[in-house]
Order: sequence, then C-alpha cells, then structure tokens
Amino acid sequence: MTAEYKVHGNVAVITLANPPVNGLGLSTRQGIVDGLEQANADGAVKSIVITGAGGAFSGGADIKEFGTDKAMQEPNLNSVIAAIENSDKPVVAAIHSVAMGGGLELALGCHYRVAAPGCSVALPEVKLGILPGAGGTQRLPRVIGVEPALNMIVSGEAIKSEMLAMLPGQKLFDKLVDSPEALAAEALAFAQSVADVRPMPLVRNLPCKHPEGDAYFQFARNMVKGMSKNFPAPAKCVDAVEAATKKKFADGLATEREIFINLMWTAESRSLRHLFLAERAASKIPDVPSDTPKRDIKAVAVIGAGTMGGGIAMNFLNAGIPVKMLEMKQEALDRGIATIRKNYEAQVAKKKLKQDKYEQRMALLSTTLSYDDLKDADLVIEAVFEEIGVKEAVFKQLDAVMKPGAILASNTSTLDVNKIANFTQRPQDVVGLHFFSPANVMKLLEVVRGAATAKDVLATVMAMAKKIKKTAVVSGVCDGFIGNRMIEQYSRQAGFLLDEGCTPAQVDKAVEKFGFAMGPFRMGDLAGNDIGWAIRKRRAIEQPGMKYSKTADLLCEKGRYGQKTGAGWYDYVPGKRDAIPNAEVVKMIEDHRASLGITPRKISDEEIVQRLVFSLVNEAAYILEEGIANKASDIDVVYIFGYGFPVHRGGPLNYANEVGLFNVVQAMKRFAKNPLDDAAFWKPAPLLAKLAAEGKNFQ
Ligand code: 3HC
Ligand code: NAI
Repeated sequence: MTAEYKVHGNVAVITLANPPVNGLGLSTRQGIVDGLEQANADGAVKSIVITGAGGAFSGGADIKEFGTDKAMQEPNLNSVIAAIENSDKPVVAAIHSVAMGGGLELALGCHYRVAAPGCSVALPEVKLGILPGAGGTQRLPRVIGVEPALNMIVSGEAIKSEMLAMLPGQKLFDKLVDSPEALAAEALAFAQSVADVRPMPLVRNLPCKHPEGDAYFQFARNMVKGMSKNFPAPAKCVDAVEAATKKKFADGLATEREIFINLMWTAESRSLRHLFLAERAASKIPDVPSDTPKRDIKAVAVIGAGTMGGGIAMNFLNAGIPVKMLEMKQEALDRGIATIRKNYEAQVAKKKLKQDKYEQRMALLSTTLSYDDLKDADLVIEAVFEEIGVKEAVFKQLDAVMKPGAILASNTSTLDVNKIANFTQRPQDVVGLHFFSPANVMKLLEVVRGAATAKDVLATVMAMAKKIKKTAVVSGVCDGFIGNRMIEQYSRQAGFLLDEGCTPAQVDKAVEKFGFAMGPFRMGDLAGNDIGWAIRKRRAIEQPGMKYSKTADLLCEKGRYGQKTGAGWYDYVPGKRDAIPNAEVVKMIEDHRASLGITPRKISDEEIVQRLVFSLVNEAAYILEEGIANKASDIDVVYIFGYGFPVHRGGPLNYANEVGLFNVVQAMKRFAKNPLDDAAFWKPAPLLAKLAAEGKNFQ
C-alpha cells in the first residue's frame, strides 16, 4: 500500500507515500479509503489528517496509470473524495510543497485545509490535454471565486499558497502556517480543534455564482479560442466552470466527468501525455544509472564568441555559473560581448529582466586571448568555425592546458565527435554538446556520445542541461546526429515536391496548417540556404549517388541565401520577417521543371504533409535501429523542442503511431510508384517494415 496510517493521540494521520510526487495511483487511492475506514472505526480517533510524504502533498493522478485499467478502477478519485466527504469524523488536508491536479482536488474534498507557505498549487490538467476530472472545476470556483479559478484551470499555471491565501474572501485554506516545518504540528492541533464541530463544512455546499455570467463566459471563450489553436481542452474548461455556476453541484460534477473522459481519448491529450513522459525519460540513459557520480561544474569556458558561443555563454550566466570566453582577437571578443549585452538589454527593455540581474550576469562573464587562463574551468565548450583543422588545433591546445577531469565539449553540428575526441589524449572526457540557434532561446540540446565518452561525463552534462533549463537528448555519432540527419531527408523531399508541381508557398502553407511553426522553405530562409548548399556539395563528393532537386542550388547561385541576404525562397522587407512570394523564384522552379521535361501535377495538402513527415519517420527508424537514438520518444523530443514539430501531434514517431505504421508503409508504397520520385527514398527502413508487419508501434 502506498499510503501510511498512524494515530497521534486522538488524530489519525494518513500519509500518501508514493514517490516521487505521491501520484494518486490505485494503491494510494485504496490506501486513503482504507485509512478512512480504520479511523472511522476507531473510537479513540476524533479527527483525521491527510498529508504527503517527501517533497509533495500530491502531484495528482498518476500519469503513468493513464490509458491502463488501473486509472478507472475503483476506488477512483471521485469515490475517494466521496469517502472523505462522507466521513463521520472531520478530515483535514495538510498541504505542502506541491498540491496539483488530483492532489488539489483531494484537498478540496476534505472538510478543512491547512497549508504551508511555498506550496505550488495548480490544476495543470489542461497541459495534458484534459481538465480536472475529480471535481476541480466545480470546487475551486467555490473557494477562490469564478474568475481566479478559471484563470488557474485554463492556464494550468501554479500559484504559491501564500499568494492564494491573500485572495479576498478565499475559502481554500482555513489556515496558512508560518513555515513548512510547522505544518505537521499545526495540522494536528487544527484537527483537534475542529474534532467536535458539526455539521462539518463541505466545499460542494458553498455557492458558485458570477454576477455577469453570460457576458463573462462569452468573453472567456473568445480569449481561450484565440490562444489555444489545435487544443480542445481549454475551451472545455470554460464549459465546465460555467456549469459550476449554472447547475446543481452533482450535475456540474457529471458534466465535468463527461468532458474529462471525452478529452482523455483525444489524440491531442495522448500527444501531450506522451510528451510529458518523453521529456522526463530523455534524461535517462539505459547504461548510465541515475546514481552515477557527477563531476562538479562550477566554472565554464567557451571558445569562440560568434553566433553560437555568445548564446551558449548566456545559458550559463543565466544559471549563475561564471563563464570565460576565448577568441583569437580582441575585436572578436568585443563583438561577442556587445551582442550578449544587446540581447540582455533587449530583455531589460521588455521588462523581462531586471537591471540588477543583468548586471549580476555580466559580472560573471570574463574574456581572454590565452588558453592558459582556461585551465581551471570544469567544462569548456568549443564553438569555433566548422572546419576539422580548426577544431583539431583547438582541442590539442585544450588537451595541453585543461586540468585533469575537465570536460571538453564541441558544439559541432556536422563533424565526427570521435575524430575530435582523438585529437586529445583524453577521449573519455570529450563529448558533443550540440546547441541550437539561438542557443540562449532554443530548449533542445543534443548530447553527442562519442565511442569513448565516459559515463560520468554523460551523467554530468545531462544534469548540467537541467540546470541551464535545456531539454537534453543523447545521440550517437553520425552525420547530422538525430535532428539534422532527419531534416536532410525532409528537405530533399521538399525539393522533389517543387520539381513535381508545387510552389514553396503551397508546401509551406500545407505544413503550417498541419501545425509546424514554419514550412521547410521559410525555415531554409531563416537558417540560411547556403548551409544546405555546402552540405550538398560535400555529399556530391562523399555520396555521389544521392539524388536532390537542383532548385535549391539554383536559388543559392542567385545569392538568395535567405533572410540574411533579404531574399531566399521569398523576399523580405528589412526589419520584418514576413515571407513575400517572389515571381522570379516561382519562374525559376517552373523553368527547371520544364528543362527536366516534367508536366506539373496538382499535389494535395495531404500528400505534401505525408511525404514530408514520413521522410522524417523513415530516417528516424534507421536512427533507432542503428542505436543512434536510445528510444523513439527521444526522437519526438528532438523534433518538438528543436524543430517546431506541432506539439499536438506529439512528435513524428508519436504521429506515425497514431496514423498506424501499417498505413505509413502503405502510403510510402504509393509514393514509391510515382515515376518522378526516387523509389529508393521510399523503401521502408527495416525496423519500420517489421513493426508495421507485426502491427506494433515505435517504442
Ligand atoms: N504522476 C506520476 N508521476 C509524476 C507525476 C504524476 N502526476 N508528476 C510528476 N511525476 C514524476 C515524473 O514523471 C518524474 O518521474 P521520474 O523521476 O521517473 O522521471 C518525477 O515525478 C519528477 O518530476 P519532474 O522531473 O517534473 O520534477 P519537478 O520537481 O521538476 O516537478 C511537478 C514536479 C511540479 C509535480 C511536475 O512533475 C508536474 O508538474 N507534474 C505534473 C502534475 C500534473 O499534471 N498533475 C495532474 C495530473 S492529471 C490529474 O490529476 C487528473 C485528475 O484531475 C483526475
Ligand atoms: P561563427 O562564425 O558565428 O562564430 C565562430 C567564432 O569562432 C568566430 O567569432 C571566430 O572568430 C571564432 N574562432 C574561429 N577560430 C577560432 C579559434 N581557433 N580560436 C578561437 N576562436 C575562434 O560560427 P557559429 O555559427 O557560432 O558556429 C560555431 C560552431 O557551432 C560551428 O561548429 C557550427 O557548426 C556550430 N553550430 C552552429 C549553429 C548555427 O546555427 N550557427 C547551430 C549549431 C551548431
């Protein structure tokens, strides 16, 4: 049982004990009900306290149970709350640290609530594509008012207990104690003080009204609609809270339950739940146990103060870790520092950063032209030009000066991390840290594990990633690692679509309608089309058989590199990011098509999206099979956090699972018959073919 029962004097204490966050799984729910029965049957017990062991009161329903029989099995959370409400003896929730989702709902079902300061209180279900399903939408408005409750339910954001306690007329907390340490004793004393109070108060009996209900809910609906494209849950939260104000409590609860169950089965909720678990699973490496010792990272060095070096440095400064930057020339250092200042100053101007915080961060930054000054750093990240000779020179110098045990990292996006590691006498200390541009903004970090990278180096950089608020995913060494290796196939396919009859705008529109932040051509313009051009030139030497559309080369030959040159697949007006279709580019594509003797055909949005997304999926299957990625969910995390893949689709492999791998393979077979397409391109990767044949999913 994952709830403990103890009696202190005449108070029974039920302690949820289901680490890490006292999720309300079946055995915990059963434990609460058993504890209530025991307390009610014991003549010596006068009142009951429910609290949580460890670092949470409760993080809510057990997310890992969702989709399994256990989630619905009795006692479900509503039944547990009914048992509390029907208890003959008063039940007091002693709330601390985290009271979220079902955890808060459990507390709202208790007769009284005593809280510690500093507790994060939330109904975050909307972030999982559902709404509170155990009375949260009905009870929270009754204790803090309709508008504050709806704000909390629609946003899912946590509010500190001491802030909630200040809401005028709030009935959420009967008492806010002075400190978390005082909670246990004060909750016991409170339980004793209310032992004989009858009738016992119930939140469900409180009134729930809004003076201008119709107008307010209409306004709320309009607001939510604008903010929650692609997600059904937020609008449903409004419906449920409105029901609380217009229906009897029991009917409102039934409305909430019905909406909850319907949302639970939506693809959007499945995707969000998948991503919640996928993001946390990404930090776990199969052969690197969680108790692997970690090295201390107290000081960081960054080599190269260019586009990436500056952004990388900012991550550490933001986390309060000192950074020393090295360049070849003082002017380059000055430029780099000026860019960092400009970025921070923009945040200060937008009131996102306080002036004193900005100054504190800058005070942690120092510069040097000499490698000797770096020797004491615990971690050094190289972000110099992408040329193997330059990397060799840098790593040889680092090997000569850095203290033993320092971690030597490269931000290379295409070069062989094993080769770089072997420039040193300590390949076990070398790792790839592939940040994404802009490095101070993008959440994704690909951690590239070399053949010799030590386990404690991996454990250290994964922990460090958390500290600098990155979502880290481990990739093995290969050309492009996980993300860029897949995007190359996607870009190739986008080129074939142009050859066959599409315009860049048509492709981008279809992909953006599917939910991508940006279609492939707008993305090319943002990243710089010259980057892909350089890769294709290299491929022409290394893999001469690889087929590409020539259109992107023709574009680059015109100097249309993208936003940085004011022109790419689209035109750009200085200072603006709007992509304006260009007739000459369309003509260039048409001329090229004609030169190949191709008669253009009309391609549907559905075909465009499938060809692009399934290009990603097929390459991902190779990546999984080769062990470059540890698990399918890691690939989804890479695409959601690094490439703007639509969140409501849960990542390319979650999407493929939703479509059904059989259907994915069938579509690929259809595409392979297209005379203009490269049949080899559409050959399903062996893993994909096998899973589809066995009726299985990517795991
Ligand atoms: N159920 C099961 N496991 C949970 C959980 C939950 N509700 N919430 C967190 N966990 C697990 C995580 O998976 C992770 O497990 P791991 O160590 O094996 O990877 C561990 O707890 C720690 O989580 P975090 O890494 O997120 O730790 P933090 O300290 O950063 O955050 C937290 C803790 C604030 C509780 C955060 O995990 C969180 O926001 N959790 C989600 C809470 C939530 O959405 N609750 C609603 C659930 S739905 C519900 O209650 C339905 C009801 O209305 C009927
Ligand atoms: P950049 O050209 O903006 O900056 C490179 C900086 O390194 C320059 O300031 C240069 O003066 C300095 N430098 C060159 N040789 C040096 C040396 N021997 N010692 C010290 N400093 C030296 O390049 P950018 O874009 O910052 O790229 C850096 C690295 O990051 C490359 O490996 C690149 O592949 C990788 N990368 C780039 C991304 C991007 O979007 N720009 C994304 C992810 C990785």
